[in-house]
Amino acid sequence: MRAHYDVIVIGAGIIGCSIAYNLSKRGKSVVVLEKGSIAGKASSAAAGMLGAQTELEEDSPLFRLGKESRAMFPDLAAELKTLTGIDIEYEQNGIYKVAGTEDQVARLQSLIKAQNQLGEEAFWVTTEQLQKREPALTTDVLGAMNIPNDGQVSAPKLTKALAQAAMTLGVEIREFTEVHRFVKEAGEIKGVDTNIGLISAAHVVVAGGAWSENLLKEADVNLETYPVKGECFSVKTRKRLINGTIFSEDCYIVPKAGGRLIIGATERPGLFDETVTFEGISLLMEAAKKVLPGLGEAEWEKAWAGIRPQTKDALPYLGEHPELKNLFVATGHYRNGILLAPVTGKIMADLIDGIAVGKDWMSAFPINRKSVKVQ
Ligand code: FAD
Ligand code: GLY
Repeated sequence: MRAHYDVIVIGAGIIGCSIAYNLSKRGKSVVVLEKGSIAGKASSAAAGMLGAQTELEEDSPLFRLGKESRAMFPDLAAELKTLTGIDIEYEQNGIYKVAGTEDQVARLQSLIKAQNQLGEEAFWVTTEQLQKREPALTTDVLGAMNIPNDGQVSAPKLTKALAQAAMTLGVEIREFTEVHRFVKEAGEIKGVDTNIGLISAAHVVVAGGAWSENLLKEADVNLETYPVKGECFSVKTRKRLINGTIFSEDCYIVPKAGGRLIIGATERPGLFDETVTFEGISLLMEAAKKVLPGLGEAEWEKAWAGIRPQTKDALPYLGEHPELKNLFVATGHYRNGILLAPVTGKIMADLIDGIAVGKDWMSAFPINRKSVKVQ
């Protein structure tokens, strides 16, 4: 272990690993400090959808950030395969947002119009057309919004590939190393204090997911965030039941390699507990079977839960602290941290490198903003 690093990254989830990977490509000396293990929290719980148009929907800086990040996946997948041999299972297989009621039909059709006006591809697919494309789907749906450019990856594989690629390029990742407090001197961050002692660096980046707010309080930095627990389960089928991801009001079903399907996810704001509940899984099972009746024959695999990092105004925090020099924060990616990881890694590395960060990112996601509570 070195006596001093260019950058300490706190958290080896997808956000911390993406930042470390980007910094390592620029020759920075980086250590990632992780209180558990690499990809041990939300980043392994995720279904891996790249839902730039599915989850973010309307024009905003966050929508544009999502699209920019989505476009980075083909090159990133190839780069990581070359560096690590890991296939992150990137697929641009499209997402169907299915409508179960006339209200949903109207809402989705107006969303298609709005996205088309922005130049985005999105189409209405009738029940008959949907049956031809996805014969395993119920005929009870009233059609779907098809988003051909949204896709998916394996979230745990992507996180581990970013970590491994970063290590290949010289990054140290210290698992089971918890950051307790920041070392400050005359308004500047000089390093951190951990269960293995003091570590010093020129820059410190907090990428601690849902646990970031608590850690930052110690440095008198007040974020407005809260955890949102999500439960998921997976099953296996002999052959792939669906080609695209199915996204309904009550659940989503993501087809993975080898006939696996991930079915998610519940939303329980305010909870840090990662237990899997009967209630959560049975609600998802019921909703998923309604959309895809053939699921009843699928083989059970496993269930899990993770904690999404949400902010009170539903926007991530990306930036440098305006007063505490050398302290950077990247958190609050909520339901879209997998999608947003490539662009977040690049933005944070640019900031630390002193490279001007383009567009409206910096004014949209500052870490000292006063949040407005979303309903
Ligand atoms: P995390 O993965 O939680 O990582 C933070 C890390 O920081 C943890 O490992 C933690 O141990 C560490 N840490 C915290 N404090 C300290 C400390 N003091 N010292 C050392 N280490 C510390 N997103 C998508 O884009 N697509 C999806 O399909 C999708 N599906 C999801 C499904 C579910 C069920 C859930 C729960 C989330 C889903 N998400 C999805 C959201 C996505 O998982 C998150 O936005 C993303 O993983 C957040 O990454 P992170 O690195 O910020 O947090
Ligand atoms: N983006 C899917 C989820 O957070 O459940």
